Amino acid sequence: MAQIIDGKAVSAAIKEQVRDEIARDNIKAGLAVVIVGNDPASRVYVNNKKKACEFCGIKSFEYALPEETTMEQLLELIDTLNADKNVNGILVQLPLPKQLDEKAVIERISPKKDVDAFHETNVGKIMIGNYSFLPCTPAGCMELIHSTGVDVAGKECVVIGRSNIVGKPMAMLLLHENGTVTVCHSKTKNLAEVCRRADILVAAVGKPNFVTADMVKEGAVVIDVGINRLENGKLCGDVKFDEVSEKASFITPVPGGVGPMTIATLMKNTLTAAKIQNDE
Ligand code: GUN
Repeated sequence: MAQIIDGKAVSAAIKEQVRDEIARDNIKAGLAVVIVGNDPASRVYVNNKKKACEFCGIKSFEYALPEETTMEQLLELIDTLNADKNVNGILVQLPLPKQLDEKAVIERISPKKDVDAFHETNVGKIMIGNYSFLPCTPAGCMELIHSTGVDVAGKECVVIGRSNIVGKPMAMLLLHENGTVTVCHSKTKNLAEVCRRADILVAAVGKPNFVTADMVKEGAVVIDVGINRLENGKLCGDVKFDEVSEKASFITPVPGGVGPMTIATLMKNTLTAAKIQNDE
């Protein structure tokens, strides 16, 4: 039976560190969160970010824009936030309504304030291992892996999913720690067989219960990035928890695994951004 990795506890410890450093060094830090439209899941995430800011002593600025917002209006707001000295980090909650060009929006955010690390400048820096910020979800997954005491170096690591937000950067972070990394996706042949090689398996597919016990090696560390809402309203990961937890050595639950870590990393990135900007 696997040990359950407690994302809430690990994230609470990180947020406490951020809070203590801000208080100790009297750091002024501000995060602007922009939400466009009425997606209920996005609303929940944004509220959680606000609460975490309050806990850490980071000033939060929220901009809730209507569904029909134009590119021009959104870019104008980003320009204003880029120039605002009280704002150290800018996060535009994704996904955006379809009339808005996500890529152009991300590129407009100053790379110094890009606490999601989605801007191509920051993505490039991560690729060569010379970065200020790490993308929140993959960095959170790495913290959870570290919390198990398992050393990534030399391990077979399999990431299922190749999104720019999770899969690709996750693969890069595992590689930075000398894992042997395979990235799987919808065109991968013999997916179950590839997954069964993994000492560390990261599921970022976006399909409920996608990873079953037959895809998991005995004793693997299993990190579940999925947050899927079932028809009965319950949250469920990409991993079939009940059967996979019989085989894994460590496993993250959903909720309470990777989710809280994303926000903890965001707090850490906002503090980093503030320190860099306050030193300029
Ligand atoms: N939507 C889902 N996850 C994220 C995230 O990490 N950052 C942003 N900006 N939007 C998201």
